[in-house]
Amino acid sequence: MLVSELETPALIVDLDVMDRNLSRMADYCRGHQLLLRPHTKTHKIPELARRQIDSGATGITVAKLGEAEVMLNGGITDILIAYPIVGTQKAKRLAKLAEQADLTVSLDSEEAARAISEAVSQQGVKVGVLAELDVGFSRCGVSNEVELLMLARKITSLPGLEFKGLMFFPGHFGVVPEERAAMRVQVNELLDRVLDLFARDGVPLAIVSGGSTPAAYEGDLFHGVNEVRPGTYIFNDRNTVGVSAATLDDCALWVVVTVVSTSVPGRAVIDGGSKTFSSDRYQAGDGNGFGLVKEDRAAEIERLSEEHGHLNIQRSERKYRVGDRLSVIPNHVCPTVNLHDEIYGVRGERVETVWRVEGRGKVR
Ligand SMILES: Cc1ncc(COP(=O)(O)O)c(C=O)c1O
Repeated sequence: MLVSELETPALIVDLDVMDRNLSRMADYCRGHQLLLRPHTKTHKIPELARRQIDSGATGITVAKLGEAEVMLNGGITDILIAYPIVGTQKAKRLAKLAEQADLTVSLDSEEAARAISEAVSQQGVKVGVLAELDVGFSRCGVSNEVELLMLARKITSLPGLEFKGLMFFPGHFGVVPEERAAMRVQVNELLDRVLDLFARDGVPLAIVSGGSTPAAYEGDLFHGVNEVRPGTYIFNDRNTVGVSAATLDDCALWVVVTVVSTSVPGRAVIDGGSKTFSSDRYQAGDGNGFGLVKEDRAAEIERLSEEHGHLNIQRSERKYRVGDRLSVIPNHVCPTVNLHDEIYGVRGERVETVWRVEGRGKVR
């Protein structure tokens, strides 16, 4: 089958670009003695997780238990759940999963640690635990080194839990390289204090897991970090390009859409709206648009209705006709993938493979 024969909207992945993204990251990590544990939230497809492992990753990261279940069913057994597992029900599910997988969880509270400890002890299994540190994103994580040490000691004292080290997510590093460099100074000061305190207290840190896609190729510049968890890098997206963490040529995924109306002057309507693209804004430059139209940089996806993408073509030289097909690089690829049942893997015009997005919608 050819790309031109696919019904739209359709998610396309250029296999050559994806393979290049995978090997570049794996080579960088190998070259800097960093463990690579990609976040599979970006693709949610076990086969792609296996490719990441085949190209050098030690294991994978997921956010939710449901995603871990999908990956385990797909034969992946070394899994970090980088999300606080809270509540008895979830702790029991985690314990069941730990019977079959080498599981590690990150957490930042004694409540979460206790519930997991009880559930895994009852099940007679063990899970690894990383204590989460907040390095400035202000989402999850303990931001004070003394409290972090207390949490680590608590985890170490609880049965069924194996304290493995620390995890942090520099989510605020989605900015240009100069700003990232300035922020890294502060993060490293905090990491130095943490590493020093843990060393003085004799608490070993087998793993210090950091990294996101914008910061991934700078993983070696974070003090003490020995593992990175980039997710977006497999496909990249418009926001990653906007902060110079990838180029447009590194964007492996785009959405093929069809122009369905041109009747309003200065406008064209495409057959992808908020059910096709995520609502994430473009973080760089003027912040405009819900994606980049590869064939026409002057066109702007100005608004999303559910099934309509409103294209402003007032500045465009291109002639738009009903039935034209366009390729749109989404602002944020992860939530875009989550909206689709399948992804088509292509080489040039030829569709080589179709993957089901098996982990989509697994919010529990
Ligand atoms: C905890 C955690 N680790 C890693 C990642 C991957 O980051 P990125 O999508 O920038 O590659 C995310 C993304 O949200 C995350 O939440």
